[in-house]
Amino acid sequence: MQPILAIGLLLLTKRVTGYLVPNPPGKYNVTLTTGSLIDYSRNDPYAATPTPRALMLSVFQPAKCASTVPVPIMPDEVADYQGPFLQETFNISANFTPLFLEARLPVCSSDHARGCSALDDSPILLFSPGYSIPRFYYNVLASAIASEGFTVITIDHPEDTNIIVYPDGHAVYNNASILDSPTWDLYPLAADTSFVIDQLSNATAIAALLPRRGPRPFRTYRVAALGHSVGGAAAVVAASRDPRIRGAINWDGTILGMSPPAGEPSSSSSSPQPSLPVRPMAQPVLFMSHQNFLDPTWTATWERLAGPKMIVYVENTTHYTFSDVPTLLQAAGQSTEPWAELLGTIAPAEMVRVLTAYTTAWMRAVFAGNMEAGGPLLKETAPGRFPGVSILMKGNL
Ligand SMILES: *[C@@H]1O[C@H](CO)[C@@H](O)[C@H](O)[C@H]1NC(C)=O
Ligand SMILES: *[C@@H]1O[C@H](CO)[C@@H](O)[C@H](O)[C@H]1NC(C)=O
Ligand SMILES: *[C@@H]1O[C@H](CO)[C@@H](O)[C@H](O)[C@H]1NC(C)=O
Ligand SMILES: *[C@@H]1O[C@H](CO)[C@@H](O)[C@H](O)[C@H]1NC(C)=O
Ligand SMILES: *[C@@H]1O[C@H](CO)[C@@H](O)[C@H](O)[C@H]1NC(C)=O
Repeated sequence: MQPILAIGLLLLTKRVTGYLVPNPPGKYNVTLTTGSLIDYSRNDPYAATPTPRALMLSVFQPAKCASTVPVPIMPDEVADYQGPFLQETFNISANFTPLFLEARLPVCSSDHARGCSALDDSPILLFSPGYSIPRFYYNVLASAIASEGFTVITIDHPEDTNIIVYPDGHAVYNNASILDSPTWDLYPLAADTSFVIDQLSNATAIAALLPRRGPRPFRTYRVAALGHSVGGAAAVVAASRDPRIRGAINWDGTILGMSPPAGEPSSSSSSPQPSLPVRPMAQPVLFMSHQNFLDPTWTATWERLAGPKMIVYVENTTHYTFSDVPTLLQAAGQSTEPWAELLGTIAPAEMVRVLTAYTTAWMRAVFAGNMEAGGPLLKETAPGRFPGVSILMKGNL
């Protein structure tokens, strides 16, 4: 692996300056607003001192606007943290910080005078990132999905995300003790998702989060959850615990075990296996995998899913293809080839198309209450399917 990664180092030492990722593919452009929601009723289980759980969010809303402006994909302080973080995590010598520092996302101007306003009542998708990965690694994907007519809210979960910088400038870092008791991992993430739904109907909280919208709550009758890796698992767990979540999509996330909340019987008392965190549920669930391999935690969960359910995999991908990193490399004029082992060989734009097409087809069907509304992509043999995507299992479709 080392020679390959050494090439990557050379490529990334080429200076990248202010490069723009492609416009989102859908029929809308997107507005982007970032802000926090604080849950004063829950202390952070991984904070050193009692601290209310404070989420940071990016809200992508579909909008009609004829012109866009380039905005940095993440704060400099977050970008600066990523190079060393990825070097340590993946034992690579390349420094990805410049790639993140220089990336620009085209979004509608926040300037009212330019006649840009967000679609008012589009369905809402709540997105959770992979373990310790900031939500900013999914900006391009979130904006691609939003451009198809969805409000996409990406969530940074404190103590999980490697660094969160709050509006007042203070930062909270990942607390690796989460890994000491992974049974605790998913619960705060799922509860965070439910908290965001609570706040969507809180006029005061929405006015603070989205000043341009003002004190107008969102309707919460069309909300669904998705995520990558542990965030994808959390989306399914959250949907199984919160009936307001109409459906879920798990991008390549093993569903780690956890103990049931206090007071509930453990289904694992007679076995060493941690109990399944997913409760029996009826909402539709889509799993998207990076390889032709059935994750045993998915098959274990399968019988608890009474609604439409499907497992697909995308060829030539890895666990990390489910992020913006391949797209950013390409947009910066870097080859993704040296990174094939880490990021897969599928063309970055094709992966964005696949994830956007399957996610939006599934969610359209979810909100229509009718899987037919998802169109041909959800059928076994149908024109319009992507040749690199195969259905591994499906039920109730
Ligand atoms: C990490 O979380 C543990 C609880 O699991 C807590 O005792 C510890 O103080 C936290 N560490 C930091 C640096 O916040
Ligand atoms: C989106 O913005 C681009 C400019 O960046 C513009 O060319 C395009 O027409 C806009 N699309 C829509 C649907 O508003
Ligand atoms: C990290 O890479 C170096 C070579 O650059 C290698 O010697 C070392 O064993 C690797 N460490 C781990 C933990 O894989
Ligand atoms: C609504 O949001 C405000 C501002 O964050 C907060 O003070 C208030 O407690 C919230 N109300 C409820 C019912 O959560
Ligand atoms: C996957 O890789 C094979 C071999 O290079 C290629 O033939 C195929 O078109 C690729 N599929 C996708 C979706 O990239």
